[in-house]
Amino acid sequence: MAIERTYAMIKPDGVKRGLTGELIRRIEQKGFRIVGLKQLVISRETAETHYGEHRGKPFFEGLVSFITSGPVVAMVLEGENAILEWRKLMGATNPKDAAPGTIRGDFATTLDENVAHGSDAPETAEREISIFFRPEELL
Ligand code: RTP
Ligand code: MG
Repeated sequence: MAIERTYAMIKPDGVKRGLTGELIRRIEQKGFRIVGLKQLVISRETAETHYGEHRGKPFFEGLVSFITSGPVVAMVLEGENAILEWRKLMGATNPKDAAPGTIRGDFATTLDENVAHGSDAPETAEREISIFFRPEELL
């Protein structure tokens, strides 16, 4: 299995609730290498680019408002099968379907505020990493 990189993000609800340390602990415990990490407030323009695939859907406006509502923690994670492995750690998108032991299963209750984000495919990962990080920020 090839070494992959994925874009991971602690969403504003996660940061606001003080879950940054707990999520980074889980990331390190799992064995990912943290290749990039920073805290930022996402601009509306960047949010609309990042979630471009959802443009036109009924939840798009709410999603953009939410993701720009406060600081997020943006990360690039590296490891074997990192894209799928990070999504497994996060659990199902809708917290009501997320298993206990997963981040969403343990910490989230609503579909709109589900604590964390992860790229869903290699092309998405590459695109999302380049939105949030310059190459020289990745170590
Ligand atoms: P994310 O991109 O945030 O990591 O989540 P995901 O891949 O698991 O889910 P995705 O389909 O990309 O949806 C992005 C976010 O939009 C919200 N959502 N709301 N009301 C709805 O039907 C609906 N569907 C999706 C969720 O907050 C989801 O995380
Ligand atoms: Mg997604």
